[in-house]
Amino acid sequence: MVCLGNICRSPLAEGILQSKVSADVKVDSAGTAAYHIGELPDSRSIAVAKKYGIDLTNQRARKFTVNDFDTFDLIYAMDERNYQDILTLARNTEDKLKVKLILNEVDLNSNKSVPDPYYGGSNGFENVYQLLDEACQIIANKIEE
Ligand code: 4NP
Repeated sequence: MVCLGNICRSPLAEGILQSKVSADVKVDSAGTAAYHIGELPDSRSIAVAKKYGIDLTNQRARKFTVNDFDTFDLIYAMDERNYQDILTLARNTEDKLKVKLILNEVDLNSNKSVPDPYYGGSNGFENVYQLLDEACQIIANKIEE
């Protein structure tokens, strides 16, 4: 799960998806930018996740690296910019095929973005939670199949 800072959207996506799949499925998140490396998720992401019984406080922000193409089978970008930034690191077609826009799981080929909630109020985080919960349920169903 990849966003820009790895403190708002992708930590939520990681926590939500991990809650829907078995523990032997490795779920992780990262950011395309380095600003927040080592930080806890944003307190508003922690709060909205907690409301739904998901704990994000074991997470720390890190930057997406090219090694992630070897570690993971699927790479979900939260928005178009993250998607393009990940693709610029891809080494080959196999890498590129792993990268998907997460909301295309809900609305095929719609190319919608999970809105960046960083500069808004807590309602933005509730909206992000609901968007990611729907997408992660579809992803979890596919994985568990
Ligand atoms: P995220 O949100 O990409 O969902 O983690 C952001 C977090 C920090 C910044 C931007 C977006 N920032 O500019 O510091």
